[in-house]
Amino acid sequence: MGQESRFSRAQRDLLELMDVSVWTGRSESQLSGDGVQSPEPAAGATPSTQEGSDSRGREALAPGREALAPVPVASSPPELEALRSKVAACKACALHSGRRQTVFGVGNPKADWMFVGEGPGEEEDRRGEPFVGRAGKLLDAMLQAMKLDRTIVYIANIVKCRPPGNRNPSLDEAAACIPYLKRQIELIAPRLIVALGAVAAQRLLETDRPVGALRGKLQYAAHLEPPVLVTYHPAYLLRSPGQKRKAWEDLQLAMREMDALQRERKSV
Ligand code: URA
Repeated sequence: MGQESRFSRAQRDLLELMDVSVWTGRSESQLSGDGVQSPEPAAGATPSTQEGSDSRGREALAPGREALAPVPVASSPPELEALRSKVAACKACALHSGRRQTVFGVGNPKADWMFVGEGPGEEEDRRGEPFVGRAGKLLDAMLQAMKLDRTIVYIANIVKCRPPGNRNPSLDEAAACIPYLKRQIELIAPRLIVALGAVAAQRLLETDRPVGALRGKLQYAAHLEPPVLVTYHPAYLLRSPGQKRKAWEDLQLAMREMDALQRERKSV
C-alpha cells in the first residue's frame, strides 16, 4: 500500500494545516511507518484491529481506518449534568466575577480520549464551549488527523472560567477548579488524557517540569487513574509552527498507546 491509500485527501490537507508534510512519489518501503516525512525513523500509527464499540458503548478508535463511522453519542449522565450545574454556580475563586459563563466541557461522556487545555479564552467565554477560537480550529485539525472529532472525544480545561486578558490561571485558581476536572475524569473514565500545554500538564501531574521534559512517553500520577500524554498547546503551535512535527509525533504515540489500552481492555 502506498501513501496515496494510507492517507485520504482530507487527512493530507489536515496534516498540511498542521505543517506536517507527507512524502509523495516514494514506495512504502521508503516511508517511515507514519507515512510522514521524519528526520528520524519513527514508528507509525499501528493499524487497529479494534473496530466497533466496546461494552461501554464507546467507539473503538482505529488509527488505520479510512473513514469515520457515524458515532452514536451517549446522552450526558445525570451525575455529569449535576456537576455542570454546580460549576455554573461556582464562586470558589475570583475568576467567577469576570466570566460571561462557565465553560464546562464538550464531547462524548463515555469518551476513551480526554483532551485538557488550560482555560477558556474570549471566544470560549462567549460561546460556552472549549477550544472554539483559533487554537480550537487547530485542535480540530489535530483531532481529524487522528480520525477523531468532538463527538468522539471529551474536551475540558483546568479552569472553567476565563482568566482576564487570557493570562494563565494562577496556582490558586487552578487549585480551586481542579476538583471539578477530577470529578469529570472519574465520571467519564477516559482511557487516556492528552494534556495540551504546560498549564494542563503541570496541574494534572502536579509537577513544574516543562512540556519538553514530559512529552514523549505516558505519564502516570498516583491521584489519576488514566495515563497522561503531554503535548504542546495548539495556541503555542500557532506561534511556533516549527514544533508541529513534534506535536504530531506525540499524537501518533497517543494513538499507539490507545490502541494498546483498548486491546488490553478487550483481552481482560
Ligand atoms: N485554550 C485553552 O486552553 N482552552 C480553551 O478552551 C481555549 C483555548
